[in-house]
Amino acid sequence: MSFKEELRTKTEEIEKLLMAYLPEETGFQKTVLEAVNYSVLAGGKRLRPMLMKETYQMFGGQGKVVEPFMAAMEMIHTYSLVHDDLPAMDNDEYRRGKKTTHAVYGEAMGILAGDALLNLAFETAAGAFDIETSARTAKALQILSKKAGIYGMIGGQVVDVESEGQPLSREKLDFIYRLKTSALIEAAMMVGAVLAGASDDEVETIEHVANDVGLAFQIQDDILDVTSTLEVLGKPIHSDDKNHKTTYVSLEGLDKAKKDVEEISERALSTLASLNHKNAFLEELIRMLITREK
Ligand code: IPE
Ligand code: IPE
Ligand code: MG
Ligand code: MG
Ligand code: MG
Repeated sequence: MSFKEELRTKTEEIEKLLMAYLPEETGFQKTVLEAVNYSVLAGGKRLRPMLMKETYQMFGGQGKVVEPFMAAMEMIHTYSLVHDDLPAMDNDEYRRGKKTTHAVYGEAMGILAGDALLNLAFETAAGAFDIETSARTAKALQILSKKAGIYGMIGGQVVDVESEGQPLSREKLDFIYRLKTSALIEAAMMVGAVLAGASDDEVETIEHVANDVGLAFQIQDDILDVTSTLEVLGKPIHSDDKNHKTTYVSLEGLDKAKKDVEEISERALSTLASLNHKNAFLEELIRMLITREK
């Protein structure tokens, strides 16, 4: 199977898994359930659950305990996007090729659908204890909660929003990117490693890998915000300019940004190669992200 075919198969498997964890659209709160399902099923690359599973398998994981964590991971990521698109934040109308959640269901439902996804994520992840009650499961849950929170993704979003319209140092920009984007990618890969029984040193190495993957990922996101189209990207271009954001591209220029995506990704790959475990698909996935167009 070619990498592309393998990627498609694995993405479809994650779609199926996600569907199994999504709520039924019944009851008086039907609207928010519809908004939740609309947001998650709108599509998306499913990169974070994929990174989680590939890291799990790299360290020899074979069980089902990773599955609720994979679903939870994508729920948290999707909630972060639903809230990121709100009028009070980036105020964007399109996401994953469709109207954003608040544009379809209204702002209140957009906020509540995000809240709902965040809670459902932890309810889902806690379900992993029904599969395996172990210190690994507990550790994985700790990592997921911390990386999604004020010392992780939310913290990064706070500084991102606060910095709109202001000149930013590279140091502060790096802080924002390592939190708003790398933190969830770190969570994905670290949870995979922990659940498979990786040692503390190995988990730390994976954290470094994921930190760089996330940084390169966000720089590429900034690049695509100026070079892509709504049709290809599935979300509006020039969103950063509209919101007066300093980005890696506005700070360093397009050429350096492109060069750095490659360099940072190569650094991630060489850190990954320092481990005594290999996963060829995972390596190709990280390499593919350098040239991703969406
Ligand atoms: C978008 O993430 C938000 C960023 C951190 C740049 P993705 O580009 O992974 O979005 P989906 O899940 O594929 O829609
Ligand atoms: C958002 O960064 C990262 C999140 C935590 C959601 P962006 O605001 O650049 O993400 P997009 O471009 O809207 O996907
Ligand atoms: Mg944003
Ligand atoms: Mg945004
Ligand atoms: Mg962006």
